[in-house]
Order: sequence, then C-alpha cells, then structure tokens
Amino acid sequence: MIFDRNHAASFAANYPDKPSPLRHGLAGCSLLAMDRLLDLTRRLPASSIEYNAGDLTVGQDPDKTPMNGLSAEETVRRISECRSWIVLKNIEQDAAYERLLENGLTDVRAMLPGRIGPMFKKEGFVFISSPGAVTPFHMDPEHNILLQVAGRKTFRIYPQRETALVSPEQHEAFHTPGGHRNLAYREEFERFADVHELGPGDALYAPVKAPHWVKVGGEVSVSLSITWRSRRSDDEARLHRVNAWLRAHGRTPSLAGAAPLRDRAKILSHRLAARLALR
Ligand SMILES: [Fe+2]
Repeated sequence: MIFDRNHAASFAANYPDKPSPLRHGLAGCSLLAMDRLLDLTRRLPASSIEYNAGDLTVGQDPDKTPMNGLSAEETVRRISECRSWIVLKNIEQDAAYERLLENGLTDVRAMLPGRIGPMFKKEGFVFISSPGAVTPFHMDPEHNILLQVAGRKTFRIYPQRETALVSPEQHEAFHTPGGHRNLAYREEFERFADVHELGPGDALYAPVKAPHWVKVGGEVSVSLSITWRSRRSDDEARLHRVNAWLRAHGRTPSLAGAAPLRDRAKILSHRLAARLALR
C-alpha cells in the first residue's frame, strides 16, 4: 500500500474537481533514491527526458527557456549545484517503475470505490530539481497525484474553470496541435491560489487542467507523479476541440460547463466523427 487510507474519505469528497492532500510511504523507496534515478536517466531514451535551467520565472516564455549546458546524466549528478530542473517521463518503460505506478493506481482506485471508471494512458514521471527551482505557471491534461519524496516544494494550485486565469481560447489552444502547457501569469492570480507546502511523505491530487506553479525549497527535491486519463478528461478535451472548431468557423461557443446538454451533444458528435474517420 502506497497511500495512507486516513485521507481516503477527503480524497473521495474532493475527486475529481478539487485538489486533495494525501500522505504516502515512498519517501524511503530505493527506486527513488538518487543512484537508482541516475541509472534510470542513463537507460531512458532521450525523448523521455526533458530538462532546463531551473531559475525560471513563474511566467516563463516557453520559447525562451534557457538550457543548462549539461547532459541529462550530468544534470542529475550535479543537481545540488547546477540550478536545474529535469523530468524523467514515462518511467513505466522500466518494469520496476511500472509496478510502482500500477501499485499507486490500484491504491487510488481502492480509495475511490465506484467513482473512477476506466483509467487509461497511465503514466509516471519523476521530477528532480535544484534548490530554489521554479516550474512556471501551467496546466496538464491528466489526473495527477504528486508524491513528494525528498526536499520540499511549495505547490500553488488554482481553479480550473476560472476564466480570469485561463480564457476559453487558451483552453481550446491547449488541445490543438502545438498548444503549450505554460500559461501567461499575472500577480493578481494569487487571490485564487490554494497553497500546499509539501515535504517528504506528502502528496497532492491535482485535478485535470487545474493551473499550478511550483517552487522548490532550500534542498534538492525529488517528486514522483502518477497520472491517468479518464472518460471525463477525454470528454473535456473533446469539448474544447469542438469549441475551437466552432470559433475557427466564426461562431462564439458557449462556455464549457455553462450548457451541460449542449456540451454533451458536442462531445458525442466529436466521438462519432472520430469513429467515422477511422472507418
Ligand atoms: Fe504540472
């Protein structure tokens, strides 16, 4: 068992739309110790590793993200002083990490009995960050539980349907090819912030596309993300793709969530169109 069941009731009450603090038992897991992560970095394909300088601003322009001049392996080896951020993607490519991910997701399902439906596109990520590193303001397309393994992080998360933070056009752009996860940030967004201080053993459920940004504390940070998609996250993506199409054809689509029956019709027609395109 990876998660402490004492938080199961609050998680079930918050899922799927609200952030939810959890506790986990992976802080001493040997697979997440630095020597094993260095080994994993060597074995993963280059396409599964992303890294850059870590002293970014919260509103970092993704086209201007500075590199750190090191190899991925060197970045992990020197993470305490190279002021960087590195993510190892799809760690489930390795059998031991796949088991870890599956164990975590089995626990999640057990904490949300009858609530979760099929889980698909199950992916695991490990983030290794230098002291003080910043992950800029962004949103992600999946259900995510971030497990803090070493060091500390301040995780600021914001409501996913607040149009003052992310406009309908930004939601639509996110789901069209080439859309970037980073979002424009303004200081006044802080009034919407839900702030979580995470140390080893803490975890946080982040809902689909809830914008967030993260700052590492004074030590090296290691975090594991276990993620999955659901019928719900799939529907949400389809809705924004239909709205993008309508907008491109001169229409002003209703706000996602404002007209549930119309949303449903859009999702079903997108699903039908996708099925016909495959024939
Ligand atoms: Fe994220």
